[in-house]
Amino acid sequence: MRVEYRRFVPVETDLLAEFLMGEDWPYFSGEGVADAGRIREQVAAGYYDSDRTRTFWIVAETEVGLIRLFDLGDDTPLFELRIRAAYRGAGLGTQVLRWLTRYLFTEFPHIRRVEGTTRQDNLAMRRTFTKGGYVKEAHWRQAWPGRDGTVYDAVGYGILRSDWEAGTVTPPDWDDEPS
Ligand SMILES: CC(C)(COP(=O)(O)OP(=O)(O)OC[C@H]1O[C@@H](n2cnc3c(N)ncnc32)[C@H](O)[C@@H]1OP(=O)(O)O)[C@@H](O)C(=O)NCCC(=O)NCCS
Repeated sequence: MRVEYRRFVPVETDLLAEFLMGEDWPYFSGEGVADAGRIREQVAAGYYDSDRTRTFWIVAETEVGLIRLFDLGDDTPLFELRIRAAYRGAGLGTQVLRWLTRYLFTEFPHIRRVEGTTRQDNLAMRRTFTKGGYVKEAHWRQAWPGRDGTVYDAVGYGILRSDWEAGTVTPPDWDDEPS
C-alpha cells in the first residue's frame, strides 16, 4: 500500500479525537475511556508534539493510522503505533515500523537504539517487531493491567543503530547467569 506520513499539528485536534475515539484500542491503557476534552488537554500540554515528541499521520486514501514518537531527547526513544482496524493485516504495520525506525535513526544522530513495549498477547505487534528487525529484550510478568481486570505480562523489543546500519539482528545474550 502506498502511504505518506504527515506530521500532526495541533490544529488537527478534532481529527485526532475522532481517530482515537472512533475505534477501540484494547492494547492501550486508558484511551478506551478517552474523551475529546482530555485529548485537547494532552495536545495543549505537548503530549503529541513538543521538542521531545513528534506525531505523524499515516496517510493512504485517508488517515489510516498514527505514530507517536517520544523521549526524543534520550538516546533511546519510544513509540506508539496505531492502525485503523480496516487497514490491519495487509503489511502496513511492518512498512510503517521500518519507516519510523529509519526516520528516528536518520533524523536524530544521537539515538543509539529504539525501543517498544506491548502486551504479551498482542501477537500482531510482536510479529511486526520481529519483521522490522527488532528483538525481544525484556519480559515483565504481571506488569500490564488490562481494562478487563486481567493483569497481563508485558514484553519489550529493541533495535540497535549498529544492527540497523549493518542489516543484522543481534539477540541479547540470555545465557549469562553467573554459575
Ligand atoms: C499492531 C499493528 C500496528 C500491526 O499492524 P498490521 O498492519 O496489522 O501488521 P502487518 O499486516 O504488517 O502484519 C505483521 C505481522 O503480524 C501478523 N499479524 C497481523 N495480525 C495478527 C493477529 N491478529 N494475530 C497474529 N498475527 C498477526 C501478520 O500475519 C504479519 O506476520 P506474517 O507476515 O508473518 O504473516 C496493528 O495491528 C494495530 O494497529 N493494532 C492496534 C494497535 C496496537 O495494538 N498497537 C500496538 C500497541 S503497542
